[in-house]
Amino acid sequence: RKAVTLPRLLDMKAKQEKIAMLTCYDACFAGLLDNCGVDVLLIGDSLGMVLAGMPSTLPVTMEQMEYHTRCVAAGNTHAFVVADMPFGSYQQSPQQAYANAARLMAAGAHMVKLEGSSWLAPTVEFLRTRDIPVCAHLGLTPQSVHAIGGYRVQGKSSQDAKLLKATALQMQNAGAQMVLFELIPAALGAEISRTLKVPTIGIGAGVDCDGQVLVLHDMLNVFPGKKPKFVRNFMDNQSSIQQAIESYVRAVKDKTFPAVEHQF
Ligand code: KIV
Ligand code: NA
Repeated sequence: RKAVTLPRLLDMKAKQEKIAMLTCYDACFAGLLDNCGVDVLLIGDSLGMVLAGMPSTLPVTMEQMEYHTRCVAAGNTHAFVVADMPFGSYQQSPQQAYANAARLMAAGAHMVKLEGSSWLAPTVEFLRTRDIPVCAHLGLTPQSVHAIGGYRVQGKSSQDAKLLKATALQMQNAGAQMVLFELIPAALGAEISRTLKVPTIGIGAGVDCDGQVLVLHDMLNVFPGKKPKFVRNFMDNQSSIQQAIESYVRAVKDKTFPAVEHQF
């Protein structure tokens, strides 16, 4: 297949072809996911919890993100590669964000993802102006877990929903070329996805986002503990990891995932 690029992702949105995205942290899985037709690989800072067994994403370092980005880039051929900027690597200033984003781009990322809200706009613009593609991560932002006081659905009141929609537009206007929503009502995910020109990716954000993402270890059912409501175990009725990944890609493309039971 052809390499997945930013113009291709925009074209997929225009044609209403759903974007299948998964987290990925190493070369072996990068090759496997790429071969199974996953469009976008995310080196998520979830690797702190999934690979390192830490209680949150806050202890994740730039060195870890660079290392795993290099591993994924080495194993991937066609997929679009997005790398998370870890806690403390971009919040201080646009200049700090640029210096660290450049490290992830040099490690093989095609785009960097930053968590935030309104305050993030000048940073998005600073990176975009300097040709670093940006994904803004809105809604539940796990790096803010201690400020929020838990992992809960965002944008539930009509006031919060309005604010989130305005922030999404602000990110697009600042130059974000992808916006990711975590844990928001499905109706809000649908409305914002219709409004934005750039692709939206959802995790617990409803079937009408332009694409879906899950943590690889969650959808393969190897992450211990309670499974969030928005996760489906794609190993069910499959006899190999390849088949599970292929069934995820199919389910995203034909909109059978997420189903009503995975949405808010
Ligand atoms: O770190 C991560 O895996 C993420 C996804 C859950 C969106 O940011
Ligand atoms: Na993340």
